[in-house]
Amino acid sequence: MKIYVTRKIPEAGLALLRPHFDVEVNPEDRPLSRAELLAKIVDADGVLCLLTDRIDAEVFDTATKARGFANYAVGYDNMDVAEATRRKIPLSNTPDVLTTATAEMAWALLFSAARRVVESDAVMRSGEWKGWGPLQFIGQEITGATLGVIGSGRIGKAFALKSAGFGMKVLYTDEYPCAEMEERLGARRVSLNELLEQSDFVSVHVPLMPGTRHLIDEAALGRMKKTAVLVNTSRGPVVDEAALVRALHDGVIAAAGIDVYEAEPKAAEGLAALPNVVMTPHTASATVVSRNGMAVKAANNLIAMLAGRRPPDCLNPEIYL
Ligand SMILES: NC(=O)c1ccc[n+]([C@@H]2O[C@H](COP(=O)([O-])OP(=O)(O)OC[C@H]3O[C@@H](n4cnc5c(N)ncnc54)[C@H](O)[C@@H]3O)[C@@H](O)[C@H]2O)c1
Repeated sequence: MKIYVTRKIPEAGLALLRPHFDVEVNPEDRPLSRAELLAKIVDADGVLCLLTDRIDAEVFDTATKARGFANYAVGYDNMDVAEATRRKIPLSNTPDVLTTATAEMAWALLFSAARRVVESDAVMRSGEWKGWGPLQFIGQEITGATLGVIGSGRIGKAFALKSAGFGMKVLYTDEYPCAEMEERLGARRVSLNELLEQSDFVSVHVPLMPGTRHLIDEAALGRMKKTAVLVNTSRGPVVDEAALVRALHDGVIAAAGIDVYEAEPKAAEGLAALPNVVMTPHTASATVVSRNGMAVKAANNLIAMLAGRRPPDCLNPEIYL
């Protein structure tokens, strides 16, 4: 059976697939164009795809032999789950293995934005630093501040628990209560508006869905403290990026740390010119442990799908009922 892998992933995953299948990997280090993707999957029995591949009805119509699609990501807003379920095609994602890496990146962005690390680094590299000064690069203190966590799922919870060493007051918002955050941190579940109004640092950890698109819009940014820092490692469209540019420019909030963008690989016009934003190129899960774990999970999901078994991380388990 033939597996198509839409972009090179760590060998840890490919090595699991090769003994069982004829594995073809996109040889170029770039996402496939739509036409390339459709041409390559025509005769595939299984597809290992990325968040940059749109997996929808047209793909299912084209890959008529495919017995499953394994996404190399925990987020699956690139996949039409309802359509796959209607056709009884299994889909999977890679939860848990990237939780720590993503939570750590949220902290890296939070610290960098709060303490203006990237701006300071640029001054050092330019050779223009004139020596110590009492008013240089004053930022926001983290210890004892109020942390707002939007979405207390796997990553939001892991992110929140790491705040314990900084003695932060933790607020969170989610449809479901998180007993562990409440017991270990004394965290309080509040409305989104209360969280935005009271937090010094706000970190977003919700999936992209119709109900979370532009969850952080101009009105939400307007509720935040002028001294607040926004961190987004979820998905770009959860934040209205044009509104964020205006808020950062006009001093509505102090700073932001951003890993994901509305129209990747482009950042919104004006964002890169702002000194008070720290940007990473959607690399929150990019640690050796996490990316290897994602590769192994995606491979194991695909192996199960092609054997006619329910994959461990199935997104539409109802098709097996
Ligand atoms: N930047 C990256 O590289 C990267 C890496 C991993 C994950 N992610 C993103 O992070 C997201 C979260 O991952 P996870 O494993 O924690 O998922 P999860 O499903 O465990 O957690 C998501 C949480 O958000 C909550 N939620 C949904 N809508 C909400 C709303 N409107 N308000 C408040 N809470 C809401 C859910 O109830 C759930 O508890 C993924 O969907 C993915 O898009 C990004």
